[in-house]
Amino acid sequence: MTGVPGRARCVARANIALSKYWGKSDDRLNLPAVPSLSVTLEPMRTETVVVLDDALRGDTFELDGAPARDVERARVARLLDGVRLETGLSTFAHVTSRNHFPTASGLASSASGFAALAGAARHAYGLPRDDARTSAMARRASASAARSVYGGFVALPAGHPGDDALAAHVVHPPEHWDLRVVVAVVTEARKDVGSREGMGLSRETSPYWDAWVASAPRMYDAIATALRAKDIRALGPHVEQSFTTMHALAFTSSPSTMYFQPASIAALGALRDLRARGVPVWPTMDAGPHVKAVCHGDDADQVEAALAATPGVLRTLHARPGPGLELD
Ligand code: PMV
Repeated sequence: MTGVPGRARCVARANIALSKYWGKSDDRLNLPAVPSLSVTLEPMRTETVVVLDDALRGDTFELDGAPARDVERARVARLLDGVRLETGLSTFAHVTSRNHFPTASGLASSASGFAALAGAARHAYGLPRDDARTSAMARRASASAARSVYGGFVALPAGHPGDDALAAHVVHPPEHWDLRVVVAVVTEARKDVGSREGMGLSRETSPYWDAWVASAPRMYDAIATALRAKDIRALGPHVEQSFTTMHALAFTSSPSTMYFQPASIAALGALRDLRARGVPVWPTMDAGPHVKAVCHGDDADQVEAALAATPGVLRTLHARPGPGLELD
């Protein structure tokens, strides 16, 4: 293993999609059926260390201080297999990962987790830094992870079947705009229907699937245009419609998946009341019950206070645009 560092540490941040990805065009390569656009979130960090060890007979994976579950270890090993294939090395590795934000916050730790893993693994096995390849590698594990490789405002195009090089790219750096995301955490429980299963059901059974694939690129374009213009009042309604359309798919799947809880509805109501009072804030939600408020930095404290005072909201988190991978 001459010339191979054998050890690397990588920090990646979670991201939230303003324009949602939901559903795949190629299950095997994990390619999204629609384009998505996200903001990378500071300070929602995952830190991952990869250490190669010739004595190992398989990869090990420790998550937040405890051995990870077998399914999680298998997903990590699959990503490492990709790196081993590219390098020709066969050495297994110890992987240690720590989330510096609550993983039940509804902010996908899989996004920051697989981005940090791909960054650390490629470096530890001696591959030169190449964010596009790192993003494509993270995407195969979790499509939203492709976006967490980059900082600021990040796009992941829809994938054409077979396009295994598909990677995310930066649309604007973090300094472009002081957009904030305030998360209203409404439960500490893990979600019951994961995004992979939920989006599979949507494609197979929702009567709205074709309408989603046809309309998502238009929502994406409207969001990209408002983002470029830094116009929160133009952005917000499209951000809201992207998530409500995605949730309509889940709701109209068979069996139906409803990610909302009573406190989610209460938080959405609190944001509607704020808007009625002239505060430009709009919600988004992912495959879970937490509500994420999207607003400008000037209004973030007011938004956070309103959400914190909403019955059923356990606590709030506040994030701003952050950087891409940090590698050493
Ligand atoms: O990448 P996954 O499988 O965790 O899917 C993420 C899907 C959403 O979070 C609901 C939307 C998105 O674009 O991040």
